[in-house]
Amino acid sequence: MEAYRELYRRAEENPEAFWSEQATNEIHWFEKWNHPFEWNPPFVKWFVGGKTNAAYNCLDRHLATRGDKAAIIFEGEPGDQRVITYRELHRLVCRFTNVLKARGCQPGDRAMIYMPMVPEAVVAMLACARLGVTHSVVFGGFSAEALKARIHDLDARIVLTADGGWRRGKEVRLKDAVDEAVKDCPGVKDVIVYQRTAQPLFMTEGRDHWWHDLDLGVSDECPAEQLDSEHPLFVLYTSGTTGKPKGILHTTGGYLTYVTSTMKWVFDLKEDDVYWCTADIGWVTGHSYLVYGPLSAGATCMIYEGSPDYPAWDRWWDVIARHKVSILYTSPTAIRALIKQGEELPNSHDLSSLRLLGSVGEPINPAAWEWYHRVIGKDRCPIVDTWWQTETGGIMIAPMPGAIPLKPGSGTLPMPGILTEVVDFEGKPRGHQRRGFPHHQAPWPGMIRTIWGDPERFQQQYFSRMPGVYFTGDAARCDEDGYLWILGRVDDVMNVSGHRLSTMEVESALVSHPAVAEAAVVGKPHEITGQAICCFVTLKQGNWDHHQLGQDLRKWVAHEIGAFARPDEIRFTEALPKTRSGKIMRRLLREIVTSHTVSGDVTTLEDLGVVNKLATQHDED
Ligand code: PRX
Repeated sequence: MEAYRELYRRAEENPEAFWSEQATNEIHWFEKWNHPFEWNPPFVKWFVGGKTNAAYNCLDRHLATRGDKAAIIFEGEPGDQRVITYRELHRLVCRFTNVLKARGCQPGDRAMIYMPMVPEAVVAMLACARLGVTHSVVFGGFSAEALKARIHDLDARIVLTADGGWRRGKEVRLKDAVDEAVKDCPGVKDVIVYQRTAQPLFMTEGRDHWWHDLDLGVSDECPAEQLDSEHPLFVLYTSGTTGKPKGILHTTGGYLTYVTSTMKWVFDLKEDDVYWCTADIGWVTGHSYLVYGPLSAGATCMIYEGSPDYPAWDRWWDVIARHKVSILYTSPTAIRALIKQGEELPNSHDLSSLRLLGSVGEPINPAAWEWYHRVIGKDRCPIVDTWWQTETGGIMIAPMPGAIPLKPGSGTLPMPGILTEVVDFEGKPRGHQRRGFPHHQAPWPGMIRTIWGDPERFQQQYFSRMPGVYFTGDAARCDEDGYLWILGRVDDVMNVSGHRLSTMEVESALVSHPAVAEAAVVGKPHEITGQAICCFVTLKQGNWDHHQLGQDLRKWVAHEIGAFARPDEIRFTEALPKTRSGKIMRRLLREIVTSHTVSGDVTTLEDLGVVNKLATQHDED
């Protein structure tokens, strides 16, 4: 604890010196920076004037000391396995960077990545980084529509994909979705397809190319571009409070410094660790703690392609035992789903290689924490509950294992350099144990730089409550030891299985259906996924079969956004509760789905009858 306090104090007293030291110790620079940071709220630049390259830091600098060390241990869902050393990963990335160059890609271009969880997804990201092409990974569970919207927003010139991937023994076809998306994207010149499932598919002459064909004849040599510290590394889309997802921009030098430092602090990384982060590369956890953080820190990363229940619910325990995984980083949703299968399955595997457990994405409830600690960690592995966001780039609040005593359900204390305070609406500090909003007062190297193409929304969304201070959108309380307890979102953002989804996004998908007049969406407590999507829908005139329409609307939302956004419940209603000014009162709807009763102030309601009817109505579907 003393060591943590000392580190924290140094960072607070002199952030310039602290972060300069981190950047110097953790990152290779082709040219050193002139200033540690320039802060013109809300805009920040880190390590200004410095030149570096993320792929160089993840690969080349390890070759002398870790060339033969496994960078990736891969297991496909069908059981196929590959061990890829740092030297081999470097070779694959150099070759694919040469492929990108041969297709005419240049630093500053944008590439979409829509791939299954195979090592080539990592190769694709690092090849983009090596050349200075800004990548945007879209989770394979997103639909063609969602992919198209992102391609347009970024004006991407190339799409890197695969025929499909394996999930629960079935092929998840990705290239078909790319075809549907790209037909309306004239800016996309090339689609490169990695062959994973080898099922028949259609290739468009001139536009589509097999990865293995382009790989023929390219060189193994490819020097990394010397990029500006603020060169855009990636844009990752996440839900905000409107229907349109936000493209969160992260740049190179600061991001890499932050994820490398936090990787070491939080996971207390040792040279012989086998580290497994179960997140998909399509989410920020996959970017920061499956690819950039661990590879920059020289770790061995486990990657598993498929589902935890295939062929049976002990697949993860089997993977841990066979590959001697020592660090497991996963989500409370996954833990809760695994708890349901009982203790016998984990108990029948040798989990003694584990030494540290991590949790991310949503609050972990005490019962899940206790099970994770006792059944998986055998009461000897600390649990690091890590709070952060797509926008923060890396972990902000988490215990440093061994140093900070744990309290189940709390992320404990902020990372060094992260000045967090729980404040009220006016920005005044709240006393201990009182609910408020966590704010981050000083810039940190991993923070969001802007929303792609929309600096006003960036300013408005995160910095309008208190000038110069980053607003997280969460509520929290701080206890007498200074520990932070995250209480969930305060905006219209749901957290379903640790994935962020805005109520407005689902609403706009619903109202684009010809039968729907109006829709209001709220998150409803769910024992496994934390929250489930519950939709209140009013229909246009017509004779509707509610049961059928309920099914159709679920499918519709999955088509518009992606399968993971399929609503849990559709409730049909004659009207929605609104204020006199016409605003839908989601708070009331939330109460209805949580408790089936409504309390509090409803005097601004247009028609109280609507609420009472909704509260007693059962799910129509
Ligand atoms: O509400 C918080 C919740 O997830 C949100 C961020 O979502 P996203 O950008 O998708 O990133 C998820 C992975 C970092 C936060 O605003 N959240 C994330 N981690 C935790 C959490 N809530 C409680 N405890 C956590 N450990």
